[in-house]
This record gives sequence, C-alpha cells and structure tokens, in this order.
Amino acid sequence: MLERKYLAEKYPQEIQNILDKYPAEQRRSAVMPLLYLAQRDKMYINREDLQEIGDILGITLTEVASLVGFYTLYYDQPKGVYHIQVCTDLPCALRGADRFLAELCDRLGIQPGETTPDGLVTIEPVMCLAACDKAPMFQLQSGAGLTYYENQTVENALSLIEQLRKDASGRRVSARERGRDGNG
Ligand code: FES
Repeated sequence: MLERKYLAEKYPQEIQNILDKYPAEQRRSAVMPLLYLAQRDKMYINREDLQEIGDILGITLTEVASLVGFYTLYYDQPKGVYHIQVCTDLPCALRGADRFLAELCDRLGIQPGETTPDGLVTIEPVMCLAACDKAPMFQLQSGAGLTYYENQTVENALSLIEQLRKDASGRRVSARERGRDGNG
C-alpha cells in the first residue's frame, strides 16, 4: 500500500516547528496544533489526515479522532469557508443569544448547524467562549484563525457575512485573473 504523506509534503517546516516545541516524551501533546494545521486549508480534517497525524506522533487514529469529536473547533466533515460559532450557554442565553442565533439563521434561510447554500458560512451554537457578559457574541473561524465578535446584533452579523462574501468573491476573481495571466 502506498503511504500517504499529504501533510508532511505540504507543511514540512510547520510540522517540524510544532514538534520542536515538545520534548520527545511529550510529543503526543503536539496533536492539537497538528490538527489545527491539517484543518487550515480545507476547514475540516479527513480520515487520511487523522492517520498521518497518528503516524507522526506514534498514536492510533482512534486517539486522534477522539479529540476531533471532543473539541468544537475541529470538524470531520466539509463545512462553510467560515464557521460562526454563537455561544448559547446560559449566561449568554439570558442576554438573548438564543434569539440572536435563531434570527440570524432565519435571515440566512438556514437552521443552526447548517451552511449557507453558497458554501460560505456555517453557523452553529457552542458552549461558553469566555465572554459571558458580552452576549450576543460569536467567534469566527477561518483558515486565518479565530476572531471574537461581542455585543452583536443580527444586523452587525449580517453585515460581516456580506463583507466575507465580497472578500471571497474578490479572491475568486483575482485567482481567475492570475490564471488568465499565467495562460496568456
Ligand atoms: S456563557 Fe457565553 S461566553 Fe460564557
């Protein structure tokens, strides 16, 4: 069987930098940053990634997969380009987080947990994000990292999504133009 080393080929230096931070006997602790790295481009982690991370760290695929299931920042299925995670834990719910989530999803024509039809944004409820007095709040996850948005209104959130949509469409146009220049 051909051994697959997608991550090792794509991110050799990043993997080495991560591993260098851990003494040999604690190397398995590198699983979290390696999962984050694996998710960076396509915004989810597939079975081959899990296997490769397990191989790098000398642990089983099942051990790696259990972390993906446990942490809300990791995904094992394709989702939107951006993930909006709205805290609906009790303190935030008391400040209207449930209503905020329901109305935001309603305005986008999706249910909580779903992705917009253009594949741009997945919106889901999560537990406490440590900004309990600033609800409604959410974190936006993308390949570039995590950003917090606090004291939000549905209108603010919709404007942000509109901006993300424009950015994504701008990137598509520039990629097309680069392709044309390359061919021309
Ligand atoms: S309960 Fe929502 S951030 Fe803590």
